[in-house]
Order: sequence, then structure tokens, then C-alpha cells
Amino acid sequence: MAEPILEVRDLVKHYPLTQGILFRKQIGAVRAVDGVDFALGRGETLGIVGESGCGKSTVAKMLVNLERPTGGSIRYKGEDITRLSGRALKAVRRNIQMVFQDPYTSLNPRMTVGDIIGEPYDIHPEVAPKGDRRRKVQELLDVVGLNPEYVNRYPHQFSGGQRQRIGIARGLALRPEVIVADEPVSALDVSVQAQVVNLMDRLQSEFGLAYVFIAHDLSIVRHISDRVAVMYLGRIVETGTDTEIYEHPTHPYTQALLSAVPVPDPEAREHRERIILTGDVPSPTNIPSGCRFRTRCWKARGTDAETGRWRSTATGRWTDAETGRWRSTATGRGDMAAPRPVYGTRTAVR
Ligand SMILES: Nc1ncnc2c1ncn2[C@@H]1O[C@H](COP(=O)(O)OP(=O)(O)O)[C@@H](O)[C@H]1O
Ligand SMILES: [Mg+2]
Repeated sequence: MAEPILEVRDLVKHYPLTQGILFRKQIGAVRAVDGVDFALGRGETLGIVGESGCGKSTVAKMLVNLERPTGGSIRYKGEDITRLSGRALKAVRRNIQMVFQDPYTSLNPRMTVGDIIGEPYDIHPEVAPKGDRRRKVQELLDVVGLNPEYVNRYPHQFSGGQRQRIGIARGLALRPEVIVADEPVSALDVSVQAQVVNLMDRLQSEFGLAYVFIAHDLSIVRHISDRVAVMYLGRIVETGTDTEIYEHPTHPYTQALLSAVPVPDPEAREHRERIILTGDVPSPTNIPSGCRFRTRCWKARGTDAETGRWRSTATGRWTDAETGRWRSTATGRGDMAAPRPVYGTRTAVR
């Protein structure tokens, strides 16, 4: 990997859960991000993938200083930026910009596109002196493939894809080195998603950008990512290069996510095993002990408290290893009484 521009160590964000109105008592915590490590090289793209609620946006917000971490460090060019304030913080923030998920709600409907894109210059006038702004904004419109004459239009006059181009132009305004894009195409039509991803790909080489590119499924980030990190319940469970993650995934969760990615080739599709995860994602206020994926892991061996003989399979079916009697946890059917699984004897721990 190239020299790291961002290094994240043991990053934690816990939101306190309180009870009572007058005397707010803390009764627990939402462990939204629970010990995340990664590095981002100059000009590199790190994809971060995981189901809704696993903590992706919280990581993004901490990277751009919209949220303060509960613990851990974020180093930008070697300096821990979680402890900065004032002028030093402002200088760093300029270099790490964010593109938001929903281009329909993230653009102020009362501002013109020119004012939206040029707004960062109010905070950093040194980048574009007042008289120069209109020209700079028009250049940015051109760079993201929009007509520079649209500068006085309002967000509602644009389509979803065009709005996300506006969001990207705004992210570029201060010429950052890192862009954190939080599900930048998730709200867009499938037909438009590729166009926006291609645009971001082109801008990356044009401006030498490093990306943290967040998505909730593996198919979107494949094309653009150099490396992919898979998140589950506030942690990264597996990180790897394109080939490692897509051809040789090792974590059962990555394997399950990957098995849900559409395969265009019908022959390959036929030979593929589809892993269906049963059960809900556990609440981040109550994270399972041991391997946090064990309650949904299709490889976890569960044992019945009394007999010690049940095991789960990928289909969510529990089978008695001795008698072959079974019961499905999904449909409740089967020829044996519901076993009470006790997990944690041999899980696919990593
Ligand atoms: N301000 C907050 N207060 C309390 N809980 C929060 C807050 N923001 C996010 N969470 C919780 O943290 C978890 C992770 O959220 P988020 O980072 O938005 O996940 P993702 O972006 O992966 O969908 C969720 O359970 C969410 O409900
Ligand atoms: Mg999110």
C-alpha cells in the first residue's frame, strides 16, 4: 500500500442510553462503532461494506469530525486529529470532505446550486477569493459533468443523479485529499449508479483523491475499490484486496454477503451456493459474547444444553447428529422438538 494518509486505530463510538427526564440516568450504551482499525493510502479507495446499522455512517462522521470518538485515534499524515481544535482542526477538515448518502435531503432546497457548491469557501476564503468564486463554481459544475450555466438553478430542478453530482462538486470545492462517500449511490436508480461511480473513478485520478467508499452491498464497491473492509456490528470482520474478498472470502459473513451478489453468467449462477442468513442483526446495545456473528453464523456449531448434539446448517436447519431428526428455525417444521441452542463452543472465530 502507498504511504497511508489516514490511519484509524481502535476507533470507538458509544452513544449513552439514558432513562428519565429530570435525572437522566445512563442505563447502557449503543455500541455503534466498537473497535475499528484500517489504513487508507494516498490515492487509494477503501470500500466499507456492511448491513444497515453496522456503524458505517458513524465511522464516516468521525473521519470528517462530525462526531467525536469515544475512544481510539484517527491519524491524518501521522497526526491524531481527534484531539485537534481551532485553527489546526480547520486546516485538517479542509482536506477530508464528505459526500452524503441522500442527495434529495442533503442539499438545501432554498439555496442555488452555485451557493451550495461555493458555501465551503465562506469557511475557507483563502481557497477562492470572493470575486473568483462564481468562476470556480462553474469550473466544478463542468468537472462533474453538469452545464456551468445551471449555477443559478435550485436543487429541485435536477434529477437524483445530477444532485449527487452537485454533492460531489461541493465535496471537491476545497480540493481535499480524502473524500468520505457515505453510500453515495444507494439512493439512486440502478441505471444511474454506475454513471456516478464512473464519475468518482475519473475524479479520483484527475485530482489524486483517496476515497473511503461506503456501501451496503458488495457489488457496488467492487469496481472502484482497491481494498474492501467488511463491517458487522461495529467491527471490521474481514479486510482484503479485490481478489481476496471476491474470489477467496474467508469470513462466513463475507461469504454470505457475497452469495447475495447477482451473478450475470447463468452457468456460474447454477454452480453457486446461496447462503441465506437467518435471524436479525443483534442490537448494538446488546452485542453477543464471543464472536459477535455467532448468532447468525451458518458455520457456528450449536450444542443443545442437554444432549450436546444439535448443529446448525446453512439453511437454518438444526439436525441431531445422531438420529438425523431435524427442525427448521425458519419455518418451524421438522420432526423433533425445538432445540435450545447454546452457542459458543466452536464458532468461526476470527
Ligand atoms: N446519535 C445516535 N444516538 C444513538 N444511537 C445512534 C446514533 N447514531 C447512530 N446510532 C446507532 O448506531 C448504530 C450504527 O448506526 P449507523 O452508523 O448509522 O449505521 P449504518 O450507517 O451502517 O447504517 C445503529 O444502531 C444506530 O441506531
Ligand atoms: Mg449509514
